[in-house]
Amino acid sequence: MLSNHYPLAFATEYAWIIASLVFLTGVTIRHYFNTKHATGKGPMWTWGATAVIFVVMVALSTVSGGIDSYEESEGRTLTPHEQKFASAESFEDAYYAVTGNCSMCHAREPGWEGIVAPPKGIVLETEADVARHAKVVYLQAGLSHAMPPPNAFEMDPEARDQIVAWYRDVTG
Ligand code: HEC
Repeated sequence: MLSNHYPLAFATEYAWIIASLVFLTGVTIRHYFNTKHATGKGPMWTWGATAVIFVVMVALSTVSGGIDSYEESEGRTLTPHEQKFASAESFEDAYYAVTGNCSMCHAREPGWEGIVAPPKGIVLETEADVARHAKVVYLQAGLSHAMPPPNAFEMDPEARDQIVAWYRDVTG
């Protein structure tokens, strides 16, 4: 439950830094009160330090929480690079090949038994998602047969061909 809804709580490469910073704020705040009780006056810099640490934690959590929501993804403006992939004529077929063979696992909230978060942080649901990941989709499911995982199910060769055709259309 927690992991599905709060990927920041477990799935970021900075999670351990954020956790350490939480403990560090405990230290700065503690230091204030220890000194205040000992000397009658707390050192004000500890509050500044606590605030700075807090800001760093927030920044880290947004940097590493890179997966946008479904709505954000649908609404966002594509980069010129993504736009090339999304506007190709062959995109529609490739998009359906991907949503039909990848999205059950590579979703913000995967529907595949045993998969609780998008594997390797790769989400393939919206057109923007697929355009963003054009190259790795091509490499993993077009050029190679690494995806879907061989023990999951057999992907229709025609769907692989559609992915290959799309990628080569755009990249020449
Ligand atoms: C049954 C679940 C499942 C399906 C379906 C699936 N994947 Fe994956 N995918 C995984 C898992 C699990 C991993 C992580 C593998 C690992 O850790 O080496 C992964 C990893 C990946 C990666 C990252 C590879 C890397 O090493 O960086 C890409 C890209 C990818 N999948 C693309 C796809 C595409 C494209 C499709 C559809 C054609 C697809 N996957 C279908 C489960 C799935």
